[in-house]
Amino acid sequence: MIDKTDILPKPFVKWAGGKRKLIGIITQYLPKHWNTYIEPFVGGGALLFHLQPKTAIISDTNSELINAYRVIKENPYKLIELLEHMKSHHSKEYYYYIRDKFLPKDNIEKAARFIYLNRTCFNGLWRVNKQGKFNVPMGRYKNPKIVDRDNILAVHNYLSNNDITILNEDFEKVSLLAKPGDLVYFDPPYLPSDGSSKFTSYTSDNFGIEDHIRLRDTFQKLSSQGVFVILSNSDSPIIRELYRDFTIVEIETSRFINSRGNARRGWKELLIIEKL
Ligand SMILES: C[S@@+](CC[C@H](N)C(=O)[O-])C[C@H]1O[C@@H](n2cnc3c(N)ncnc32)[C@H](O)[C@@H]1O
Repeated sequence: MIDKTDILPKPFVKWAGGKRKLIGIITQYLPKHWNTYIEPFVGGGALLFHLQPKTAIISDTNSELINAYRVIKENPYKLIELLEHMKSHHSKEYYYYIRDKFLPKDNIEKAARFIYLNRTCFNGLWRVNKQGKFNVPMGRYKNPKIVDRDNILAVHNYLSNNDITILNEDFEKVSLLAKPGDLVYFDPPYLPSDGSSKFTSYTSDNFGIEDHIRLRDTFQKLSSQGVFVILSNSDSPIIRELYRDFTIVEIETSRFINSRGNARRGWKELLIIEKL
């Protein structure tokens, strides 16, 4: 098969909090030039793939996700082959077999399992239980796109033809790598925006209020060092308070807010940038 090499890379996983719809707004606030692009909560990497910086450091604490980035960079053809195999076997029984019984014997199989489950599970969620086991039921898709060969190869071309460092670290450690003139985009798990009772609770990513404070301190430190920093978060009083010394831009968005996925509501989120 002839590989299309001219398509632009895009996220290869469905990811909660994906930024594809907000790219047009976020890019309005980026500087014209920077040195290294750093994205410490990369997730699906919507902004990364849009910008396609030649030098970048990307990281996330989700080790399955980071393994998939590395496998696409190093071994895309073997991964595509495994996904084709999974696609040809896809059924309800097969889904639960892969989810509950299949034990990957190497990182390529691990990445194939991760992408297969992401494309076929309910809402593309990646949720694990206390024992670290993925426990999302199968989604009701007629024809899930299990193998996007062209995109995997486009992502591979981007990651392997540029200077892209892929890390599996906490954001604070990654931020230590930023130098004056670099651009850091923080897109953390959002603080719940619906009331003060939740402020001490943890999100599903275990990213609690103390992490948001640690992130604000990191943001402040980088900014004072001449690093260009920009951050997304929910519109909540705590976030407004934490970043009161910075410029806060309100963004109107819309999100699915119920599990049937058919009720939409206007939603505001914030973009924090340095003082304009
Ligand atoms: C809102 S998502 C990022 C979405 C991404 N911008 C996109 O377009 O898909 C937040 C990410 O932060 C990661 N994460 C959670 N805690 C973290 C931490 N302490 N350091 C780095 N990454 C973390 C999660 O695994 C998740 O992928």
